[in-house]
Amino acid sequence: MDFKRHIAAHIQAGELSEDEIYSMLALPPNTEMGDFALPCFRLAKTMRKAPALIAQEIADNYKKDDIVSQVSAVNGYVNFKINRAVWTEQTLGRIFAEREKYGSSEEGQGRTVCIDYSSVNIAKPFHIGHLSTTVLGSSLYKLHKFLGYHPVGINHLGDYGTQFGKLISAYKRWGKKEDIEKGGLRALNALYVRFHEEAEKDPSLNDEARAFFKKIEEKDEESVALFNWFKELTLKDVGRIYEMLDVHFDSWAGESFYNDKMQPVIDELREKGLLKESEGAQIVDLEAYGMPPCIILRSDGASLYATRDIAAAIYRKKTYDFYKCLYVVAYQQNLHFKQFFKVLELMGKEWAKDLVHVAYGMVSLEDGSMSTRKGKVVYLEDVIQKCVQKALTIITEKNPSLENKEAIAKTVGVGAVIFGALYNNKIKDITFSYDKVLNFEGETSCYVQYTCARANSVLEKGGKAASWKAGDICPQEFELVKRLADLPNVLHDALEKYEPCLIARYAVDLAQVYNKFYFDCSILNAEKETREFRLALTEATLITLKNALGLLGIGVPEKM
Ligand code: ARG
Repeated sequence: MDFKRHIAAHIQAGELSEDEIYSMLALPPNTEMGDFALPCFRLAKTMRKAPALIAQEIADNYKKDDIVSQVSAVNGYVNFKINRAVWTEQTLGRIFAEREKYGSSEEGQGRTVCIDYSSVNIAKPFHIGHLSTTVLGSSLYKLHKFLGYHPVGINHLGDYGTQFGKLISAYKRWGKKEDIEKGGLRALNALYVRFHEEAEKDPSLNDEARAFFKKIEEKDEESVALFNWFKELTLKDVGRIYEMLDVHFDSWAGESFYNDKMQPVIDELREKGLLKESEGAQIVDLEAYGMPPCIILRSDGASLYATRDIAAAIYRKKTYDFYKCLYVVAYQQNLHFKQFFKVLELMGKEWAKDLVHVAYGMVSLEDGSMSTRKGKVVYLEDVIQKCVQKALTIITEKNPSLENKEAIAKTVGVGAVIFGALYNNKIKDITFSYDKVLNFEGETSCYVQYTCARANSVLEKGGKAASWKAGDICPQEFELVKRLADLPNVLHDALEKYEPCLIARYAVDLAQVYNKFYFDCSILNAEKETREFRLALTEATLITLKNALGLLGIGVPEKM
């Protein structure tokens, strides 16, 4: 039950509608004052009365019922207290009825949302820079599904461009089949780096590379076979990482998929008078919108990244009839997205407004930056493995006799990497620190996982509550109930703002509140009725934390 809605429906405040009141109802800073508060300052103007007076009148006119137990006016606010037993019974009732579905909803029914994320480049390293798009996108995918949408996960592979000519040239000159087979992406990257070094000394290599690229385009058998092999090796390598991170896609249609879908776009642009020639290239002029032109065809007739994205958006609309199409891509590409969204708008695609660039900040390691060309790269797989290794050391230290340590360390280590990338507002640049993400007392996934293990152990000792009743509810218990009840709102907000960090923060907050309850209130030694109720609270917390972490792609070990 939505208590805010209940209160809003029963308040009379001048001309204000129920929805307006609903949006004004806030949480008071201090829970002693009440559970919800209506600030009356904004009303003073239209109602021509002092806020304190308005608050008093609203409070006097509010008819209490078995849900709202107390209404008071203080300094221009009306404070409402909800009947704790009702709140508790409703919340726990819902959690136990819905269990692993708790927090889900049907609000997205009938709406398809395309999510373009991770979008790796063939034969280029899968490095720490790809972490955010991969885990943010994956979390948004899970969240949309949970809230009833039909998500379509798309890996818009970077599988087109002159770099593949370079790679073929390098492979034919210096590559060995066995080395590449064994070394995978890293061996391919080494070839790529070598090409650039050698081409600096001998620029004619670039012509050779261009010729090879042309051969791919002309479907020359050998070149295409090599390219496909590079692609296969790449997908095998990244597949391993996706599996560790529990990341999935419904479509792998990458840039080359649009090779034969761009001509109609170019024709349409020309027909609509949007195409202009500039220094031999075909462009869409965006000066009127304060942007540099969007280049559609280079002077040599080659298409560009933007051309493919325009064709891809049109294809996705036609294929999926999306409600929204999200692009989870770093903010460095802000201009690119603004430009091609604008071009689609100018083409008269009214759905261009449904394209959303979900931009995020950079992740760097404490020891500095990287560059693909010079070969200085931090591989995501190495970061994950190191985190798992460190988790194993910590767990072994804390609990030497724990069974299944390796599997648990994997869940904890992988979780730490994901959580580290998702805990902050996505637009913030972050510096990844192993010590920080594996701090068991910090705002981390392992802190939350550890809390779950604690709850599990309480339930193991005390048994699950067979029946429970919310009697006299102490403040620690009530704080917990309020947090538990909040999951559906948090999820709704996280989706609306495309911010999984809200879920991560919620999980930490809930874990902290549970731990306070755990230390302040005795569970197993309480008298029977209280003990049952506290066991029920413990189980409800465990269910809720698991659901929250699950939406981030993080698992929960039984023991730690
Ligand atoms: N492969 C690109 C890169 O690494 C990201 C592609 C994002 N998706 C898109 N539709 N442009 O920068």
